Parts: sequence; structure tokens; C-alpha cells
Amino acid sequence: MTDKPFAEYADRNGVPILEVLRNEFANCTKVLEIGSGTGQHAVRFATELPFLEWLTSDLDENHPGICAWVNDSDLANLLPPLSLDVLTAEVSAAFCDAVFSANTAHIMSIDAVKRMFEIVGSALTNGGVFCLYGPFRQNGEFNTSSNAAFHETLRSRNPEMGIRHLEALDDLARESNMARVRLYAMPANNHIAVWCKGKK
Ligand SMILES: C[S@@+](CC[C@H](N)C(=O)[O-])C[C@H]1O[C@@H](n2cnc3c(N)ncnc32)[C@H](O)[C@@H]1O
Repeated sequence: MTDKPFAEYADRNGVPILEVLRNEFANCTKVLEIGSGTGQHAVRFATELPFLEWLTSDLDENHPGICAWVNDSDLANLLPPLSLDVLTAEVSAAFCDAVFSANTAHIMSIDAVKRMFEIVGSALTNGGVFCLYGPFRQNGEFNTSSNAAFHETLRSRNPEMGIRHLEALDDLARESNMARVRLYAMPANNHIAVWCKGKK
């Protein structure tokens, strides 16, 4: 059996993210999480928001770790991971009223980010919300020198990675019939951007 993977940062940012999701997902019933990573967030959020059915997903290589967390939690509202690579996944019919993703847009290539927005736009029912957590650039600027340095580190690891411009994500959202309705400043120079399907 795989040990449960643990990321210190996902443990730290879980509580402030939860407080935003408590508000944003208050009237939702089914969440798709894209890029569940270790699976820690999913267990915390499915525990604290028991009215939601939480569907994890990620590339197959992360499934053993996510399954270890899901199985150990024994939560009836937490589902084992979907095999979901946004680059190759088919666009589905609408099946959920919320999507959550953390720290994915700067790791994925820009083509994958575009695809993620298309997938989210089709997976959400009208009025559904997409909460994306992570660092963003706004008005062409990094919000801190540490995020500028982080961007350079990402680029040196892989030139396809990098901190995205929030306005460019808004354009992608618009192309998939979503509009940004809120932006939360989060600890450690991160944000949660919230787009709503069907809003202009
Ligand atoms: C930095 S980790 C974040 C994990 C987790 N959401 C968190 O905040 O701890 C980035 C995640 O994006 C996922 N990812 C990268 N490319 C992807 C793709 N093409 N489709 C789906 N997920 C992808 C990775 O597998 C990984 O789980």
C-alpha cells in the first residue's frame, strides 16, 4: 500500500482556502477538483464541507497517493481520482456546479491551461463556480519580488511553466462562457480567482 504523500505547503494553505470555499461553495453539491496532487486538500475540504460530493482527479502518476488519502479518510462524500490530463481529456457535458484547482496554472503549459478552462466551462452547470488558487500576475506585474523570482525558477525548470496573467485567464474564461466575479487575496502572496459560468 502507498504511504500518504504529504506537502507542508498544502497543509499550511488548507485552512485559509477552506474559508473561501465555505463561502463560494455554500450552495453547491458536486465539486470536480483538477490536479488533486497529494490528496490532502480533498480530504480536508470533503471533511469540512460534508454537503459536497468531492471528485478528485489528476494525472495517473498521482493516483496511488490520492487513493491512499481517500481510502484512509473513509469519507462517503469523497470519490477516488478520475484519470484527468487536461491536455487529452474529452470535453464533457455539464455534470458539476463547482470546480476547484490549486497551484496548477503555473505548472501546466499555457496550452494545458487553455484546455483546463475549456473543460471547466463545459463541466460546470449554469451558475456554477470555478475557484483557482495560486500566484497570478496582475496588470502585467508580479505582486512581489518573491513571486518574480519563483517565476524565473519555474521557467528555468521548464520554459512552458510560469505565473499566469490574471487578465489572460479572464479571456480564457470568457471564451468558455465564464466571467470573474471575485478575487480573494490569500496568505503568501497567492490569490483565489472565482469565475462564474453564464455571467457576462
Ligand atoms: C504543484 S501541484 C499542486 C497539487 C495540489 N493541487 C496542491 O495544491 O497541493 C500541480 C498539480 O497539477 C497537476 N497537473 C499538471 N499537469 C496537468 C495536466 N495536464 N492535467 C491535469 N493535471 C495536471 C500535477 O499532476 C499536480 O498534481
